[in-house]
Amino acid sequence: MNLIKKRTATVALAAAMLVLYSFTEKGMEHAPVLQNNDWVAPKSADNLKNPFKGDETAIKKGKITYQNMCAICHGDKGKGDGMAGMSLKPKPSNFTSEKVQSQSDGALFWKMTTGRAPMAGYKDILTEEQRWQLVSYLRTFKKQ
Ligand code: HEC
Repeated sequence: MNLIKKRTATVALAAAMLVLYSFTEKGMEHAPVLQNNDWVAPKSADNLKNPFKGDETAIKKGKITYQNMCAICHGDKGKGDGMAGMSLKPKPSNFTSEKVQSQSDGALFWKMTTGRAPMAGYKDILTEEQRWQLVSYLRTFKKQ
């Protein structure tokens, strides 16, 4: 590849990333909305679309990230009963619950992106792709 072609490729890549970014992070508000101290994502988060909805490969990748980073608090089976979560207040959420499963993909994505003490926000820790894969994996905890 000559230099000009390389430059064009770099510019094209940067442009593509910018478009992707503007689709997914656009309209993300950052202040948590609290109702009776419950953690509620802003309405605008519902508009964020999961690019990996029901995608089996994404679910497998999400599972690996989950086991490495989330199970310690949320538990292997997502019940909120991980070792490190025992003494936390509030307790880690139970992902099998209606309370969690009734939320939109966008709301769950927003929450793991933003975080709320004692849980970290994963915006700078996990890529956007990884966070959506996690959303897809969290859906597998839904009670049948
Ligand atoms: C240090 C323990 C800890 C770790 C690690 C952790 N969480 Fe959490 N998480 C919590 C707690 C505590 C809450 C409840 C916060 C609240 O209700 O205010 C929570 C809530 C959530 C919620 C909101 C669910 C709801 O009730 O609406 C999501 C989504 C979530 N966590 C995803 C994740 C993901 C994905 C990971 C791994 C990348 C992760 N968490 C890692 C402690 C943790």
